[in-house]
Amino acid sequence: MMKKGILVIGSLNMDLSIDLAKMPVTGETILGRGIAYKAGGKGANQACAAGKLGGRVRMLGCVGQDEFGQKLVKSLSESGVETDYIKESRDLPTGTAVIYVDDNGDNSIVVIPGANMACDIEYLKEQDEQFHWCDYVVLQMEIPYEAVWYSVKRAKELGKMVILNPAPAPDEIPEEILSLVDYLTPNETEIIALNGKSKDDIREGAEKLLSRGVSNVIATLGDRGALLVNRYGETFYPARKVVSVDTTAAGDCFNGAMVAALAEGQSEAEAILFANIASSIAVTRKGAQESLPIREEVAVIM
Ligand code: RIB
Repeated sequence: MMKKGILVIGSLNMDLSIDLAKMPVTGETILGRGIAYKAGGKGANQACAAGKLGGRVRMLGCVGQDEFGQKLVKSLSESGVETDYIKESRDLPTGTAVIYVDDNGDNSIVVIPGANMACDIEYLKEQDEQFHWCDYVVLQMEIPYEAVWYSVKRAKELGKMVILNPAPAPDEIPEEILSLVDYLTPNETEIIALNGKSKDDIREGAEKLLSRGVSNVIATLGDRGALLVNRYGETFYPARKVVSVDTTAAGDCFNGAMVAALAEGQSEAEAILFANIASSIAVTRKGAQESLPIREEVAVIM
């Protein structure tokens, strides 16, 4: 069977990944252990995950005319992603992210969007052919919000399946957009933020999003697993137990792996199991894209 096409629209960032024992608190100066430059960006990570796992993937996004941009595009292309349609901004530098990773493998991230903000509606209109080409459109929130809303609408006009990873969580997603989303994939923090920062439990938060029009909510719950909530009810998919060294891009891995599995005809349940396994491998390794598994690594565990 011909695999379906996956169009990932989103950010590309050079990650400055800083290793430290524990996170600094406000006003504190601490010594870190090391710093490394690694390919990242939520959009690029999701495209990379799907590409490494054998998906037919095209990426739309924007980098600057600089060395970081060239390295990011190369990294994606080496992971099997079609990068020919990525834009180069003449005015803005490639996006960067400063990532602190502590001894528990937990992270804190600050993103400087740079050229990601040039991934705008005008560019997406120029790339309309890619919307026609694909079957799945995958989005996150590190490009201008209007560009995300435009992409969701254009994808649905053309009858495509939409996966929206609301990360980092916006204050609000318009109702008309939520009702066009097939899979919304927030983590716990994002569910809370999207429900007006209330302390509702995750299940309740996911149900609220359903009632606002989303077809399926898949809440990614870190080392506990993933919870699927839709009109048929809810299903919990426990995570595989591993020792985590760096959770950077674990959610991106989940999204990329899930869409890669769906695009090759796996059922929804199979795709979530596949994504859980892929992200359980990613957290055992450092970095974003370099931590993402290839197909054979997931296959031996399934
Ligand atoms: O999800 C992890 C990613 O978030 C990092 O690679 C960083 O670039 C930020 O976009």
